[in-house]
Amino acid sequence: MGLVTITREDLAGGITGAQASLLCTKLEAGDILYFPETPVPIAPDDLAFLLGQQQTDSSLHKNIAYKPNLDKLSGVDTKTADAAAVERLRRIMRDYSQHVIEFLTGFLAPYQGKWRLDYASFRPQEEEGRDLALRKRNDLLHTDAFPTRPTHGARILRFFNNIHPTRTRDWLVGDPFATVVKEFAPAEIRPEPDNALSRAAKGLGRAVGLGKAIPSIKRSPYDDFMMRFHNFLKENARFQAECAKHPWQFPAGSSWMVYTDTVPHAVLAGQYALEQTLLVEPEALVAPETSPLKVLERIAGTALV
Ligand SMILES: [Fe+2]
Repeated sequence: MGLVTITREDLAGGITGAQASLLCTKLEAGDILYFPETPVPIAPDDLAFLLGQQQTDSSLHKNIAYKPNLDKLSGVDTKTADAAAVERLRRIMRDYSQHVIEFLTGFLAPYQGKWRLDYASFRPQEEEGRDLALRKRNDLLHTDAFPTRPTHGARILRFFNNIHPTRTRDWLVGDPFATVVKEFAPAEIRPEPDNALSRAAKGLGRAVGLGKAIPSIKRSPYDDFMMRFHNFLKENARFQAECAKHPWQFPAGSSWMVYTDTVPHAVLAGQYALEQTLLVEPEALVAPETSPLKVLERIAGTALV
């Protein structure tokens, strides 16, 4: 796994269907697509507004989510926030979300129309030294799973912009999902082939020392495992100490995209980022055998969604 660099010249020449398929294959296998110059630039006055939020006493200085389907910000205290500033941030996030989608619609042609638009986010806080609960920490290697938004096998693809004027955004990246599961989840992870779905999921959970399934009627056994695996990785000192760690520093003005459900990642330092999440449907995948769903179903010997 590694970094695939895509320059402005590469994009100017156009991406053929065959190249797009190859890029999707690489993404799905755990590579990061890296754009030294972002293909989704932010207008200078909008950028100045975003960068100004930390210096002022603004209520917009915390990480804020944007829900494109509702055109709504969450994480903003509307009682104390300056209404004009909130409206401006909403407009900037709406534009950002649309521009990322416009770019990806052409760039990742094999996925076109087969993704669900998830949240975008504005991350103005310094990542180094943040005081967060263990399961919320970004500086511990983990794979992503959303507690309130089970994906039922769709994959979590995230597009990032480092909008800091000068500083890098510093990541650590681990080996892909299949390797991590094999290396750090114990052998008894393989349930009997005739196990019911729920037993298979519980078997997977027990095997990584997580006890009972987290109760949720909306989660599939797959989602259940992915959520508990996220927590397991953050809480596991041996994994954090011994797993492979590849440092990547994303410069100011760059973008990158990665399947964060596949690639263990940690953010060590950096401030000011924008991000858009897409949920890519299993039918859209170019190399579905590398997806965490298929990896887990091979281990479980049964369907998990
Ligand atoms: Fe994450």
